[in-house]
Amino acid sequence: MAGMTDEQLGEVYAFAVQLGKDAGNMLMDAAKARLGDAGQSGQAFTEKDSAVDIVTKTDEDVEAFIHRSISLKYPDHKFIGEETYSKGDSRDYLIGETDPTWCVDPLDGTVNYTHLFPMFCVSIAFILGGRPVIGVIYAPFLNQLFTSCRGRGAWLNDNQRLPLIRYPVPPIPEEAPSGCIFACEWGKDRQDRPDGNMYRKVESFVNMAAEIGGRQGKGGMVHGMRSLGSATLDLAYTAMGSFDIWWEGGCWEWDVAAGIAILQEAGGLVTSANPPEDPSTAEIQDVRLGSRLYLAIRPAGPSSTETGRQGQERLVREVWRRVRELDYRRPGA
Ligand code: IPD
Repeated sequence: MAGMTDEQLGEVYAFAVQLGKDAGNMLMDAAKARLGDAGQSGQAFTEKDSAVDIVTKTDEDVEAFIHRSISLKYPDHKFIGEETYSKGDSRDYLIGETDPTWCVDPLDGTVNYTHLFPMFCVSIAFILGGRPVIGVIYAPFLNQLFTSCRGRGAWLNDNQRLPLIRYPVPPIPEEAPSGCIFACEWGKDRQDRPDGNMYRKVESFVNMAAEIGGRQGKGGMVHGMRSLGSATLDLAYTAMGSFDIWWEGGCWEWDVAAGIAILQEAGGLVTSANPPEDPSTAEIQDVRLGSRLYLAIRPAGPSSTETGRQGQERLVREVWRRVRELDYRRPGA
C-alpha cells in the first residue's frame, strides 16, 4: 500500500472501526433522548428545539467528535467532513492523490433520522492515493456494522463476510435487469423543471420498472425497486448482494466513500451513472469519487458462459440503455 505498511493500515482500520462504533452510539443516544429516554442518554432537549435543530446539532457534534479523534491520533492526515465542507466557500473536489485523507459523513440518511426511520448511519472512509481503502458504516438503530479494508475483505458485524450469499456467489441473471433489485434515490434536487434531474430520474426509474419490451424496448421489468434514503447504506446493501443495482446522481464524496470502499472490497463494481454515447461498446471505468454520478453493481460469480466481471459489465450496459443523463456538475464548475 503506497505510503503505508500493511501493519500501519491495519492499525488505521482498527481505529476507524472503533470510531464508527462510538460515533454511531452518539447518534443513537441523541435519538433516544428524543424518544424520551433522556435519563438513559444523559442528553435532554428543550421544548423549543425542533427535530431539525436537534438533528443539525447532533450532526455537528458527531462530526466534531470524529474530527477531534482523528486529529489527535493522526495529526498529519487530511479531514473532509460533510458539515465542515458545507460551511466553507469552496465546492472544489478536495481529495488529492497524495495525502492520506479521511472522508466522513457523521449522519447519512438525515431525513430518515429526523423521522426516526431506522436507515441512518455514520459513514467513515480512509483514502490513500485518491481511492477509498477503508470503509466503516454503522447503523445503530439496525445494529448493522459494515467494515472493509483493502485486502482484508468486507464484513457485516465483524463475522459475516460480504456478499452474504457466497457458496457460490450468484452470477448476474441471464435476462438482467429482469430478476434484479434496482435501488435508486429521489435525492434533494426537486426542481419542477420538465427536463430537470428529478424528471430525468423518474423517467429512468419507470424504464427500469416497466414491463419487458414496453417503452420502445426500454422496459427492464426489474424484480423490485427500493430507496433507502441513505446513499452509503444503498452501497452497503449492494455489497451484501441484497441489491443488484444502485443508480444515483447528486451525492457528494462523503455520502459514498465508505460505501464504495466496502462494495469494491466485496467484489462489486462502481462506475458512472451517466450513459456514454454508445453503451454497448464504451469502456467501463471505475467511478471518480467526486463525480456525483454513481452506478453500482453487486459482487457476481461466474456462470457457464461468462466471468463475474463480464456479467457485471453486461448489466452496466443494460442499465445505461435505460437511464437518462443527469446533470450534477459541481457548483461553479
Ligand atoms: C443524502 C442521502 C440520500 C441521497 C442524497 C444525500 P444526507 O445524504 O445519502 O440518500 O439521495 O443525495 O445528500 O444529507 O442524509 O447526509
